[in-house]
Amino acid sequence: MICFFDGQFLELSDIKVSPLDRGFLFADGVYESIRTYNGKLFRYEDHLERLKRSLKAIQIDFKKINSLEKIIYELIKKNNIESESLAYLQITRGSAIQRTHHFPAEQTSPTLFISVKELIENIEEKENGVKVILQEDIRWLRCDIKSVSLLPVVLANQKAKEENAVEAILVRDDIITEGTHTNFFAVINETVYTAPKSRLILEGITRKVVLEFCEKFKIDYKEEFINKDDLKSYNEFFITSTTKEITPVTTIDYWAINKGEIGKITKSLQGVFQKVAEDY
Ligand code: PDD
Repeated sequence: MICFFDGQFLELSDIKVSPLDRGFLFADGVYESIRTYNGKLFRYEDHLERLKRSLKAIQIDFKKINSLEKIIYELIKKNNIESESLAYLQITRGSAIQRTHHFPAEQTSPTLFISVKELIENIEEKENGVKVILQEDIRWLRCDIKSVSLLPVVLANQKAKEENAVEAILVRDDIITEGTHTNFFAVINETVYTAPKSRLILEGITRKVVLEFCEKFKIDYKEEFINKDDLKSYNEFFITSTTKEITPVTTIDYWAINKGEIGKITKSLQGVFQKVAEDY
């Protein structure tokens, strides 16, 4: 597997990360996951904008931001990926001799790592829906930054796995924020609800695409928080992300929603998404 690390295309096994890298020591870095449709990076500009926002929020001055797209396509070629790909891109503040909590006194050079792998589509999940569990949202208050500091969601997602669920949906002070690596949607009275853009969620690109579909196809939607105690008054649920696209939720904890049947609005949004992806 050829990856891009610190200015070079390298075999994965030849990459050496310094233990002084602030990504390693402090999770002092940000990332993006981007996929292709028909070999073309999906909504690259949106991912780039989000990456720029994340970098700015943690004050990493990364100068080569405009070279990333070309490197990703180059990696797809170098790894001979003929199906769809998933690119992972991480930028940390780099390494400094002294381990200090504050930014290093001397100018560090940010560490860039990019990998691409073949994307395995999970058709089963999208067709049949998935189980999710509810977990307390113990993350920090800047969830809008795509930070590599992911321990709270690692633990919540592990808990989901142990309960044969694919995702943990996070609850902060009784309101549902999002999943560990997905955005969460609920439908009632033909209106789609999802948490508003704020510091409590990551503004997913797929979330944005879904809201654009709602706009275009005149499906009512509201960016409002859903209270966990009101969950049972909604009748359709789905999660979204780059890899999960629009995945229906058929079970929340022990509640089997509509006897496992996928909701009408969820299905129609999935249909639109599939068409857009096919034509991309
Ligand atoms: N995760 N919310 C969180 C907390 C996420 O980590 C992600 C993405 C999303 C969905 O964003 P998008 O639609 O842009 O993929 C929402 C990626 C896939 C990851 O962790 O690899």
